[in-house]
Formats: sequence, structure tokens, C-alpha cells
Amino acid sequence: MKQKFEKLNSLKGELFLAGDKSISHRAVMFASMAEGKSVIRNCSESEDVTSTINCFAKMGCEFKRSENTIEVIGKGFGKLTPPNSQLDAGNSGTTTRLISGILAAQKFESEIIGDASLSKRPMKRIVEPLKLMGANLRANENGTLPLKISPSENIHSINYTFQVASAQVKSAMILLAIHLDEESEFIEPVATRNHTELMLGLKTAETERGMKIYASNKNYPKPADITVPADISSAAFFIVAALLMKDSELVLRNVSLNPTRTGLITILQKMGGNIQIQNRRKESGEETGDIIVTSSNLKNIRVPKELIPNIIDEIPVLSVAGLFAEGSFRIENAAELRVKESDRIKSLCVNYKKIGLTIDEFEDGFELSGIPSSDIVEFESYDDHRIAMTFGVLSTLLENGGIVSGFECVGISNPKFYNQLTGLAYNSSI
Ligand code: S3P
Repeated sequence: MKQKFEKLNSLKGELFLAGDKSISHRAVMFASMAEGKSVIRNCSESEDVTSTINCFAKMGCEFKRSENTIEVIGKGFGKLTPPNSQLDAGNSGTTTRLISGILAAQKFESEIIGDASLSKRPMKRIVEPLKLMGANLRANENGTLPLKISPSENIHSINYTFQVASAQVKSAMILLAIHLDEESEFIEPVATRNHTELMLGLKTAETERGMKIYASNKNYPKPADITVPADISSAAFFIVAALLMKDSELVLRNVSLNPTRTGLITILQKMGGNIQIQNRRKESGEETGDIIVTSSNLKNIRVPKELIPNIIDEIPVLSVAGLFAEGSFRIENAAELRVKESDRIKSLCVNYKKIGLTIDEFEDGFELSGIPSSDIVEFESYDDHRIAMTFGVLSTLLENGGIVSGFECVGISNPKFYNQLTGLAYNSSI
């Protein structure tokens, strides 16, 4: 589907976004593993989280949805039931990788499949470390889906230092470790999102080599009542748009402000962005607050290497802020972008070239400069929700607007994106 965007002059109003996708995945998984009834409030409305729900429904868990609250009846330790067909993770890397750690501990065979994009993404990064814990799983010869998981008698705890800065890999190993009597110890040299550790109440300790994380079956989930804060990665598109449009004043309510996720706010503030935080509090163990954004003049800065995992999902839209900021925008140390829902470095560079910008593409990033042309251009989503929304935001900033093709993929994280963005342009409350 092609979506046309008109130029928007300002964003004003208040926005209540659906729950964070990463936290919602974990809430659904842990509620499914726990024995009995859990409640998840403000759960993400994304197709990705629906993929997680569908996988656990196939293993005997029950879900009752009314608006954005989900009641889950989980099965309990060792009681998930064998699925009668393949588990389809759709487009979701988080579903695939996290569920693999859980499946590796079960006494039944399972197989995970996904859509065309997910079927190209690297799975060796979980297969190899889970095998080190005795798991019996194999990807196909390219290290991609389908992933076949068989029961193993040899699962054991591990002392392990993560080789890839990835919360998905970290979580896969933790989720296997919480099935074992003996404690596992992990070292995370570079910080990545810590929702798994927080929701499972894992003990952690800062060391010289990085964060040490301890996990055993004492941390196996129990039924819970969870309120998921609004998704900071969805908020990112509105934050950037409001900063760049004149006379904007936007309030984003109850947003996740977990410090492993707020790198974008830190960077935009350093670039001169007027972003204030109010009503800071904790919601179900996660930092939460309101974000107030007003129009600002931005200046590009160097993005520090250690912040890259923190902003990995926000780099596409950060580049739009960089395009309209003083100086050229440059991102490096971000090779992980090449193995997301699309090769995001390529997706960004090809689309930016269409409006006449000067692009220098390198293996782990790109540099962007020039002034966008005023021709109406058709941007390509590459079936990647964050690319579609990035060029949706960019289109609203161009003199004659723009078109995004393959726009329906925004449902992967935020099906309401278009209505929310255009609704705020008329000073309303959504
Ligand atoms: C996620 C972790 C990140 C992120 C993804 C969600 C998670 O991936 O890009 O959108 O929920 O754990 P990696 O851990 O592979 O970097």
C-alpha cells in the first residue's frame, strides 16, 4: 500500500502510545510460562507481539483480550504442551530468539519459522551459545530459519561473556538458564536493554568487565499484574517530528524511560533539542514518565560507540533529525543495522539518494549531507516498519510531502502511526 504524506507545519497535543514492544513480548512470554492467571495492561498492539501470543497459544496458553488488557492463563514449569505445527514468529526477531531459549528447555520437538525478512536474519548468534549450554537446536545451513529444537538431557548452567551486544541473545540464554537448579553467570561487556533482567528480578552486579547477571530456576516467572509503559521506540518518531516542525509542543504520556532505551533523548538533547521529562516514576519495575517536546534548532554531534546498542532501533529516525540539523549527520559502529528487519543502512541510503542528498555509505554506518530536493518522491519501506515510519516523518517535513510504498508494514510495531501523526497536526488529543 502506498501512503501519501502532506507537509505538516506543527505538531501539538497529547499522545498516549500503546505499550512498549520489547516489554510486552517479555510480559506475554513470562505470563505464559508462569502457572495461572496474569494480567498485562497497555500491552503492545503490534503484529510482532501477536506473533508471540500465537506461539504460546499453540503451546496450550490461553489469552483473553479486551481493548489493550490481556488476561493470560499460563501453563507452569515444564507444562507447556507440544505445538501441533510449526511456530510462526512472523517478522519478529525478538519472538524467535527469546522463545528459542524457552523451547530448548522443553521435553518436546519444535520448529520456528518466519516471514521472508525474518528468514534472512542471523540465528547462529543464539544457536551457538545455547549449544554451549547443552541445547539441541539447529538452524539451516546458512544459519537462518527454520530453527529445529529437540529435547536435550544435557542442559547445564554456564559462565559466559556475551560476544554480540544483543538483548535478544542475552535473553535467550537467560531464559534457558532459569530452567536450571544451578546458577548461571553472564557478563555483558556492552549494555543492552535490560527488560528481561528487571521483569525476572535477576541479581546483577557491575564489574570491571561489564554487568554480571545471575540466573537460575529461582527466577522462573510467577503470575503477575503488569502495566506496560508506552513504547519509547514508537515515541521516537513523534519526538523527532515535533523537534523539527515549527511551533510544535507535544506531550507523550507514560513513556518507558528505562536508561537502556533513552539514548535517543540524550543525543537529541545534546543536539540542542528541547525535551523535558515530567512525572518520573516506576511502573511494574520500569522507569516511566511524560516527555514534553518543543520545536528546536539542532546541531549534529558525534554519536558515541557505547550508545549504539541503546539507540539501535532509533537510528533511522535520528538520521532525519540529523538531516535537518547543522553540519552533516554521521553514524558509525552500527553494523548491526544491516541485520535488522531490512539492511537498514542500505534502506536509508537508497531512500535518501532519491531526494538528491550526498551519501557516503560504509560497512558500519553512513554520512548524510545536502539539502532535500522539493520533488515528490516515492520512498520504499523495504517491508521494514521503522524505515516506513522514518520516511513518513521525513515526508511531512518536505515542501511537497512524499509517498511511502509498502507502508502497511508499520503494523509490525504501531498500526496507528499515520492517524496519530496526522491527528496531532491539528492540535487534537488522540
Ligand atoms: C530487542 C532487542 C534489539 C532490538 C529489537 C528488540 C529486544 O535487538 O533491535 O528491536 O526486545 O530484546 P538485538 O538484541 O538483536 O540488538
